[in-house]
Amino acid sequence: MDNEIIGKTKEFAKAKLYGESTGHDWWHVYRVWKNAVSIGEKENADMFVVQLAAFLHDIADWKLHGGDHDAGPNEARKFLESLGVKGSVVSHVCEIIKSLSFVGGGKKEMPTLEGKVVQDADRLEALGAIGIARAFATGQKLGQPIHDPEIKHVDNPSVEEYKKAYTGERKNTTINHFYEKLLLLKDLMNTETAKKIAEERHRYMEEFLERFYNEWDGEC
Ligand code: ADP
Ligand code: NI
Repeated sequence: MDNEIIGKTKEFAKAKLYGESTGHDWWHVYRVWKNAVSIGEKENADMFVVQLAAFLHDIADWKLHGGDHDAGPNEARKFLESLGVKGSVVSHVCEIIKSLSFVGGGKKEMPTLEGKVVQDADRLEALGAIGIARAFATGQKLGQPIHDPEIKHVDNPSVEEYKKAYTGERKNTTINHFYEKLLLLKDLMNTETAKKIAEERHRYMEEFLERFYNEWDGEC
């Protein structure tokens, strides 16, 4: 029964998000699910909750729903109830989706192990080779240059400052985004399993930046 529900949830998320181009497309969700499964198994989490939350975590992004942080949880609740999932599981999954939806969610502690696992899996998406690719894709969408030594990054940006870069109110570059978010993420991981993966991906991004600056300066 659980496997059937997981399969239906996977199909629902795929149908809804396939071809999305905001960085929250189906393949992002697929990778979060994969990461969440491998982290969750090592951390002994409830894999039914972990998998449902991973598939549904970006089902209705607040950024595309007029800032409504309840849009995602509401849609997830409707879908899970239509499958007859029991109330305590539905509430747990919706709570995870709601907590994940806040920008700078690092400020709010995820209350359950399953939430921590899915949050880690989602955050890992911003790191490593995939994270670099996503950052440049988002940068393109925001119309920001890849790099401009004259545009300085903000140290430890507040949520407001971070949002300004996203809405274009503050001129920014994609290389700056590394210092404003990507290089800070490894210290925000909840689980030991994700911390190890994040450290490896972090080193890879540092190497990327070193090489980027060398090439920028014509040194290699
Ligand atoms: P999340 O998946 O955590 O909700 P966002 O919607 O904030 O992330 O961003 C989607 C992707 O775009 C992430 O990989 C993030 O690192 C990247 N991104 C967000 N803001 C910027 C920016 N100003 N410049 C470049 N990349 C960005
Ligand atoms: Ni996500």
